[in-house]
Amino acid sequence: MPVIEQQKALKPFNTFGVPATARKFTEIFHEDDLSQLYVQGAFQEPYLVLGGGSNILFTHDFDGLVIKVSVPGIEARREKEVVYVTAGAGVVWNDLVQFCVKSGFAGIENLSLIPGTVGASPVQNIGAYGVELKDVFESCTAFEIASSAVVRFNKAECRFGYRESIFKNELKGRYIITSVTFRLSTVPSLNTRYGAIEEELKKRQIAVPGIADISRIVSEIRVSKLPDPSTIGNAGSFFKNPVVEKSEADEVLARFPEAVCYPAPGDKVKFAAGWLIEQCGFKGLKCGQTGTWKHQALVLVNYGHATGQEVYSFSEQIIESVYAKFHIRLEREVNIL
Ligand code: EPU
Repeated sequence: MPVIEQQKALKPFNTFGVPATARKFTEIFHEDDLSQLYVQGAFQEPYLVLGGGSNILFTHDFDGLVIKVSVPGIEARREKEVVYVTAGAGVVWNDLVQFCVKSGFAGIENLSLIPGTVGASPVQNIGAYGVELKDVFESCTAFEIASSAVVRFNKAECRFGYRESIFKNELKGRYIITSVTFRLSTVPSLNTRYGAIEEELKKRQIAVPGIADISRIVSEIRVSKLPDPSTIGNAGSFFKNPVVEKSEADEVLARFPEAVCYPAPGDKVKFAAGWLIEQCGFKGLKCGQTGTWKHQALVLVNYGHATGQEVYSFSEQIIESVYAKFHIRLEREVNIL
């Protein structure tokens, strides 16, 4: 039976490390715990599902039930060179990556050291260094809040896009992901195209890299560029890289030919939000207890005592400045509560 606590401090449960209180709080370790919450009528009041708390900014207290999903377990099933790895939603993402790297299961090594849990990974289709979750996603199981049934979603049903899925859109708040199955391989087809990975392989004179090399290099790049949430509160990229129509991109490029951008599906153009923000003078800027990270302007940080409101207001300033200069409206990647 899940234990329900009252007036729980959420600071330890969000990597931004901002203060907030949940009126009620519970941690679940099994799908059955969710069925029990359903029977108790827990979903009749506002609820919030929390994984690693690495993609959320609390701007106020939560007047309802916070459900921390801690379903454990990793299982692998091999079919020739294909390995189906199923992990509980509460497994720490990087623990899964390291398990797969050690076992020789290739496919998620480029996603090393991304904070958060397995259950959150399909929600925003996590991605880094040329790989997105959708590239290795097989299916997930999810608890349907309206009916208490456990259902399976295949890849097409999840409607993945850049940092997007059906769970963030049409089905927002209607399902709780309890496990995810990945389609990995014992025969690696490495993705080393990302500039920084190629450079590091050359520097280290690794001609024939393995998945452990890629994982190590990606982890080191992340550590050098991104603040460690255990010492400086943050939630990774605060904004998405904006994707705009080619005509809009041409207008920006006519004024700023050096703008960092890449072709995106549908003849669109994706701009590096970090570059746009840096050009507005925000990189490394400290504003009270918040600011942008000195090595990556796309990451907002908490210097220790920031409130969620403070971080949010600062993000508004950034959005306004970028819009004034480039006529591009940044969208937040982080969920705001
Ligand atoms: N740049 C700047 N100034 C900055 C930051 C970046 O000019 O302050 C420019 C540089 O030219 C750099 C380019 O932007 O080469 C791209 O920067 P980076 O390689 O750091 O990647 P990103 O586009 O800023 C995305 C993801 C990250 C992911 C990296 C690596 C998004 C919103 N972010 O960042 O994901 O780790 O690529 O693949 O797509 C996250 O989602 O939380 C996250 C950290």
